[in-house]
Amino acid sequence: MKPNYPDRIHIAHLPTPLERMERLSKHLNGPDLYIKRDDQTGLATGGNKTRKLEFLVADALAQGCDHLITTGAPQSNHCRQTAAAAARAGLGCTLVLRGNKPAQETGNFLLDELLGAHVYWTEDRDRAEVITKAAAELQAMGRKPYVIPLGGSNVMGATGYVLAMQELMEQLAAQHINVDFIVFASSSGGTQAGLVVGAEVYGFHGHILGISVDSPAEELKMQAAALATATATHLGLGMLPLAERVEVNDDYLGGGYAIVGKTEREAIKMVAQLEGILLDPVYTGRAMGGLIDLIRWGAFTRGQSVLFWHTGGTAALPAFADKLV
Ligand SMILES: Cc1ncc(COP(=O)(O)O)c(C=O)c1O
Repeated sequence: MKPNYPDRIHIAHLPTPLERMERLSKHLNGPDLYIKRDDQTGLATGGNKTRKLEFLVADALAQGCDHLITTGAPQSNHCRQTAAAAARAGLGCTLVLRGNKPAQETGNFLLDELLGAHVYWTEDRDRAEVITKAAAELQAMGRKPYVIPLGGSNVMGATGYVLAMQELMEQLAAQHINVDFIVFASSSGGTQAGLVVGAEVYGFHGHILGISVDSPAEELKMQAAALATATATHLGLGMLPLAERVEVNDDYLGGGYAIVGKTEREAIKMVAQLEGILLDPVYTGRAMGGLIDLIRWGAFTRGQSVLFWHTGGTAALPAFADKLV
């Protein structure tokens, strides 16, 4: 069972480090904790989107497109990395950001501007409507836009995380580590979909647990399972038992998407001060907060190993300064 991978461009710094979190493991007195540093994938400050964009940008180039359009929240990491990938590939970039232009240019929005992206704010309009309008304007100017969905989560984007699982399995074998759980922040489901396909292909037998950042568990499970199936089909893998491997915990939604509370604050400070590793306020802070809580509740036994897959996002930290200190 070998995936038939489409072409990709090589913009990510791979393999990302796999590290043991010795001091955090000791502090929490629970399972052995490891971290996969996808906050170090390169481009403009790293994160999970770089792996997705290797395939998405290659597809755009193969289709003769000269401009990327994508969408996200005002502090979207996906949008910032898309702007950076466009710059690297010599393509134009339009970002459709939700809501109104903030008073201050900070965090990812500041970086979007520095990276040369053209930004539209949806204000009270529907996201899809603004994307369609932006694409039509570009076409009228003789450009050929390529639209990347929210979070880069389609079969092309998810493919980046199928390949990431191969990378992890090689590292685990080389370092003689057995991982029982992979825990990470899950939102549009592309990372999770890719990981479960990769687990089937490369023989990872542990749990793959997404901590939902914004959706009810059942909704995200269905979304990630459907994308996993579509990705496996796209890679020529045939029928795999994927849906049962998609595990989601939605206990840490707190006040909603991007509402930073005690869970995120505690996790960010704990990992920063014990490991010297920065998490982000929206995704990895919440996912790590969930993992810390699960450890405290005894969800894992001593002797088990848990790998936290760091998916990036630290460029958003300054935009949440008033909620973090
Ligand atoms: C830092 C970070 N972590 C996790 C995610 C979630 O990844 P996915 O959308 O593939 O579920 C995102 C998505 O924007 C992100 O920016």
